[in-house]
Amino acid sequence: MLSIQDAIKQGEGTVSIHGWIHRERGSNKLKFIVLRDSTNIIQCVFERVNFEKTWEDLDHLQIEASMTITGTIKKDPRAPTGYEITAKKYEIVGKSENYPIAKDQSVEFLADNRHLWLRSRKMTAILKIRSTIFGAIHEYFRRAGFYEYHSPLFQAVQAEGGSTLFHVDYFGKKDVFLAQTWQLYAEPAIFGLEKIYTMAPSFRAEKSKTSRHLTEYWHAEMEMAWSVFKDIQDHGESLLKFIVKKVLETNKPELAVLERDLSKLEPSIKKPFVRMTYTEALKVLKQKCGIDIEWGKDLRTIEEDELTKLYDVPVIVTHYPKMVKAFYMMEDPQHADTVQGCDFLAPEGHGEIIGGSQREHDLEKIKKRLVAMGEDFKQYEFYLDTRRYGSVPHGGFGMGVERVIKWICGLDNIKDAIPFPRTMERYKP
Ligand code: 4AD
Ligand code: MG
Repeated sequence: MLSIQDAIKQGEGTVSIHGWIHRERGSNKLKFIVLRDSTNIIQCVFERVNFEKTWEDLDHLQIEASMTITGTIKKDPRAPTGYEITAKKYEIVGKSENYPIAKDQSVEFLADNRHLWLRSRKMTAILKIRSTIFGAIHEYFRRAGFYEYHSPLFQAVQAEGGSTLFHVDYFGKKDVFLAQTWQLYAEPAIFGLEKIYTMAPSFRAEKSKTSRHLTEYWHAEMEMAWSVFKDIQDHGESLLKFIVKKVLETNKPELAVLERDLSKLEPSIKKPFVRMTYTEALKVLKQKCGIDIEWGKDLRTIEEDELTKLYDVPVIVTHYPKMVKAFYMMEDPQHADTVQGCDFLAPEGHGEIIGGSQREHDLEKIKKRLVAMGEDFKQYEFYLDTRRYGSVPHGGFGMGVERVIKWICGLDNIKDAIPFPRTMERYKP
């Protein structure tokens, strides 16, 4: 059995393939079946004179039935992928009922039938690119000497704000929730491993409907000992460059299915990313976009979008006001009202794809910020121990993998970057 792509490569002689019916049409003399497998599609033609006995069966085959076909392959410029198989033999493996998905169905209908919609050319293309991206992330970190490390997903302290915590009924105990980040359980591990990374689900009870929020998403995170703030930004930039390069090398056909304009991605490999402080970003927004933001306010989605539209590479915004960022971010020694934290904003208004920082290693400062947040710092004792026994400068970041997929594939909505999206409104099928 050959894959369809390999059969096309062979280009002549007899081939056997298997797959699913992508399209079918027929007359009373001929039946055309376009067969699909994970690699490609190909047109197969059945002549009635050769299949008189089973013509009824063949003629009633419906879209998405699975079958094997043996026949002679040859070039045919009229066929959808330039080759055609004249069938000599076939076997029906699994019949198909009336397939519910046809052209121009509503977003809602496709979401209800997500398990079937996964077979579409669009979703297949995205899922192949997703696979490349996951592979590239592992490759990048392993080459750079990072160990893969895993934090628990049931957690008892929070890091990214109480409003998006998913509480879990843990045998009647209520102070347990699903991980928003690996971070607080990753920092203790740098004292043994120094450089670590992960890819794991993170959970956020996002109560808003946006095109870039999931309640369950895949989070690629790294943490390293002995870092300075610039190392964190440099790794984020190199990782993204590595990912985009891999996708462009591996997935040109899939990007073509998605009609992605490659000239929008290429600058991110070739040019350095734009880096600016939050304070500079406010100036740019005022001068170039006419948007006036009071110093100290977080950037909102619309403002981030306006900013990124000015550049053709991601923008790394650094040194946000302390007030708007997480308690663990390092206070900047020069400007104590800002932190050494950064957000990577993707081009074309795809929004924040990485959030990271140098970590505060002053125990008293962390305690103060926890108290200011209304947290009981006793819960954090295990975490605070990282600052008690041989604390070192360190930092890390988290990258939303679906956000990166959304950007690279040029998707309107993050939901299409994951097989079964989970949002405030949808957790089925
Ligand atoms: O900026 P965030 O909240 O940072 C952290 O969680 C840090 N603890 C990471 C670290 O330093 N180890 O989240 C990191 C990234 C965001 O930049 C965004 O790309 C993604 O996670 N993200 C989401 N992606 C999809 N749906 C959501 N609801 C997301 N929330 C965050
Ligand atoms: Mg963030």
